[in-house]
Amino acid sequence: MTLLDAKLVSMRFGGVVALSDVNVHQEAGETLGVIGPNGSGKTTLVNVITGHLTPQNGAVLFDGAPLLGRKPFQIAAAGLSRTYQSVRVFSELTTRENIATALLDAPRPLPSEGVAETAEWLGLTPRFDARAGSLTLYEQRRLEILMRLVQQPKLLMLDEPVGGLSSAEVRATINLLSELKARCTIFVIEHTMKVIRELADRVIVLVAGEKIADGPPAEILSDQRVIEKYLGSVDA
Ligand SMILES: Nc1ncnc2c1ncn2[C@@H]1O[C@H](COP(=O)(O)OP(=O)(O)O)[C@@H](O)[C@H]1O
Ligand SMILES: [Mg+2]
Repeated sequence: MTLLDAKLVSMRFGGVVALSDVNVHQEAGETLGVIGPNGSGKTTLVNVITGHLTPQNGAVLFDGAPLLGRKPFQIAAAGLSRTYQSVRVFSELTTRENIATALLDAPRPLPSEGVAETAEWLGLTPRFDARAGSLTLYEQRRLEILMRLVQQPKLLMLDEPVGGLSSAEVRATINLLSELKARCTIFVIEHTMKVIRELADRVIVLVAGEKIADGPPAEILSDQRVIEKYLGSVDA
């Protein structure tokens, strides 16, 4: 079943073409990886799909319904949530209070036993009374994921979920995301190829706003054009 279908999406900022006729298709249950150099339009693609930006052209269908023109909270209510490249939690509030705000925003909130069980799974229970700003980046990224999971998304878009983490934390996050696949469909932007190689069923490559490749990771990560335009410059 097709969950996400974005067609011919184009987004310009003044003279900057951030996305140019980009097509993205994702099946329910399929983990889609997105790679590409900095500034290639990866975050812009998530911003367009989740209603944070309105593109000049294109159409986005989620679960068969058009998304463009709908607000982020309406899109989240339809089951499409995202995390941010720079983690966004309320740093002055405790972990527990951050979770409470996410529950208030959720039209179909996870029942409280589910919240407790998910927090435990994420290792956040001992941090419930700590201010979110005092958590490590790793814990904050997990809290942000928890705040989305209490809204029971069908599709969760993760923008560089291992950015800034240590190699042990990257390992733990890959394990977490592979378990997360049982709860929702995952769309993941990453520069760490280990994440893409281990988790993605399919990967798309954006370069200067254009999708230059789309296919299975083994094929895409050894594609000469992809290596020339991107992989040659990252720590793969
Ligand atoms: N809100 C914005 N206003 C103006 N330019 C933007 C905005 N968001 C992104 N851009 C530009 O669009 C291009 C793509 O950015 P982005 O989607 O953040 O790339 P990536 O996530 O792949 O690093 C860049 O040139 C960036 O400077
Ligand atoms: Mg980005």
